[in-house]
Amino acid sequence: MPAQVVDGRGIAAGIRREVQGEVETLAVKQGRPPTLAVILVGEDLASTTYVRNKGKACEEVGIKSVQIHRPASVSREALLDILHGLNKDETIDGILVQLPLPPHIEERSILEVVDPAKDVDGFHPSNLGGLLTGHPRFVASTPLGIMEVLDRFRIAIEGRDAVVVGWSTIVGKPVAFLLLQRRATVTVCQKWTRDLDQYTRQAEILVVAAGKPGFVKGDMVKEGAVVIDVGINRVDGRLVGDVDFASVYPKASLITPVPGGVGPLTVAMLLKNTLSSYKARIGLSSKP
Ligand code: GUN
Repeated sequence: MPAQVVDGRGIAAGIRREVQGEVETLAVKQGRPPTLAVILVGEDLASTTYVRNKGKACEEVGIKSVQIHRPASVSREALLDILHGLNKDETIDGILVQLPLPPHIEERSILEVVDPAKDVDGFHPSNLGGLLTGHPRFVASTPLGIMEVLDRFRIAIEGRDAVVVGWSTIVGKPVAFLLLQRRATVTVCQKWTRDLDQYTRQAEILVVAAGKPGFVKGDMVKEGAVVIDVGINRVDGRLVGDVDFASVYPKASLITPVPGGVGPLTVAMLLKNTLSSYKARIGLSSKP
């Protein structure tokens, strides 16, 4: 049987409609829309594009987006001042600092200052800790998008062998903990893993977030595997994933394409996180 190819754009559109419906009702009742503040530092092309797309996606569902742009030369202190202001501002429900930051600013020291209750990116240590203890408040959007795909396609997780390639704090580690929480047997591989193929070939669920175009080939994948490609690599002006689609597709039972797979879900889950922060802040839910 050919693999199911996940239509991430379609799923994301559905989630955005759901968010929009709730936002429309609540914003009228509350007299203010949910609001997301996005901080962009510098002129990195990819970051500028991501931030623009996030802003557009917010506006489309009725979430107000406040974008704060500072030059790459901005001081750490100036960024901290901005964050303290946003933390205090009652009209701000979510705060996101677009990464990477310039080398002179230690990212950790900035992310730690975001109010964990407004940390819709899930990067604050207290939210990462919540993931570890099995009680996450905010989880980063990409790992959430991956779990959304698995659930929408009713992929059994409990007891299955899951392999995550990549150990970033944005994707690899959080998705590993989410899978573990759902009782998968999880192996995390990284660039020091010896004989990577030996692990990927065991995977019933394979998540690839390695940042290497076309890295995972068909001969590295188990017959019938669920393959989630998180890579976003620009090669000769084209977007390609970390999975070599042509050779993996014939072996997989389900595969996310690039573009149009996990990417659109990431933005949709950010909108969902912003809505849930707003709902918690107006007392509509205990979470987050
Ligand atoms: N840079 C790359 N991915 C992300 C993300 O998910 N959130 C933020 N804030 N920055 C990023």
